[in-house]
Amino acid sequence: MLRNGSPPRVILGIGGGIAAYKSAELARILIQRGYKVQPVMTAAAMQFITPLTLSTLTHAKVITHLFSERGDANAILSSAVEHIDVALENDLLLVAPATANLLAQFAHGLAGDFLTTMHLAFTGPVLLAPAMNTNMWNHAATQANLRLLRERGYHVVGPDAGDLACGMVGAGRLAEPLEIADAATALLDGQNDLAGETILITAGPTQEAIDPVRVITNRSSGKMGYALAANAAQRGAKVILVSGPVALAAPAQVEMVRVESAEQMKNAVLHRLPEASVFIGVAAVADYRPANPADQKMKKTASRLSIELEPTADILAEVGRLKGDRIVIGFAAETQNLIAEASRKLNAKNCDMVVANLVGGNGTGFEGDENEVLLVTRDAEPQAVSRAAKSVVAAKILDRIPGLRLAAHAEAR
Ligand code: CTP
Repeated sequence: MLRNGSPPRVILGIGGGIAAYKSAELARILIQRGYKVQPVMTAAAMQFITPLTLSTLTHAKVITHLFSERGDANAILSSAVEHIDVALENDLLLVAPATANLLAQFAHGLAGDFLTTMHLAFTGPVLLAPAMNTNMWNHAATQANLRLLRERGYHVVGPDAGDLACGMVGAGRLAEPLEIADAATALLDGQNDLAGETILITAGPTQEAIDPVRVITNRSSGKMGYALAANAAQRGAKVILVSGPVALAAPAQVEMVRVESAEQMKNAVLHRLPEASVFIGVAAVADYRPANPADQKMKKTASRLSIELEPTADILAEVGRLKGDRIVIGFAAETQNLIAEASRKLNAKNCDMVVANLVGGNGTGFEGDENEVLLVTRDAEPQAVSRAAKSVVAAKILDRIPGLRLAAHAEAR
């Protein structure tokens, strides 16, 4: 496979775990697929497999140290920036096995060796194939690190469950090399399919002031919108993310516009809409706001309190009115009549697609890390996207953009 005349370039980072031996097979498959593979081994990895094995399979110099071990000044000068060069020259950072220690270092931005330092300079997609003992995998620290990395748009393949080298049975076994290679191929193939698109996304809740210290808001975490932004940016789109207040890290390569209220979100969206070729309204925008927010903090009294609310503008509907030839995608969070409600919103708000999900206590929807949705369009049966990490669901939603554009063109003719 050739891209722009040159093969895709993959950094194969190898962590120090017993599964490191399987990285040899993975390297072989990647080379067979025509990729250029740059192995990078941690010190611990070399306890399990030798650099000679990897260099023989990949025909590349295996990087094992942050600084050149040779003593001459030129070698030291060139090696001082090698982690930057490697980061800039490659299309994908694949880490297999990704140990608990590597996940922790990546999550917290530590840069103690070549792999972790280069990782900070790398701006492309990162695919992690974790492998470790079941208890280490299940540890709250490992799971929290993984959640953080997923939020930032990192891709994760595996681990599988089964017999582990340590004698335990459970989750933690490295995914099969073929499965890891397939995940890498999917990322490399999809990498630039959204190049040329400018995608404007709203995410998170809004906060509507009652007084200077109190707000009306909702439980939206922003995770779905951030996952869409991260995935779109990785696939080459220019992404503008208009976000309400959330506790999430900004995804790499995404332009952030931070807002609080529905009014601010609407103004930010309308300001940036002319440059957008795709709009995705994921935000849980407040439908009402206090009609007369108090200038000073309201004092408690013994009597009941009523707050008069007035409607906010519907941002998605407004974008639908100004649609032009852009693709407009809305979300519908429902507790019942999912398809009927999604279809109604599709038409009422002039959308090309509505992503519908049932909300309510099963770990999907607003606050969870996973989602399960139906993609509702005008001219096709609803497509079910089964329960998966929000990053996976995000990729499936964005996969529909080329088809929606074709359908919109056909309708316009
Ligand atoms: N939306 C918006 N601006 C609003 C309200 C909603 O842009 N003021 C967008 C959301 O981002 C989402 C879609 O509209 O893409 C659906 O939001 P939802 O709250 O489910 O729908 P509503 O139109 O508020 O309908 P209802 O309250 O009748 O369910």
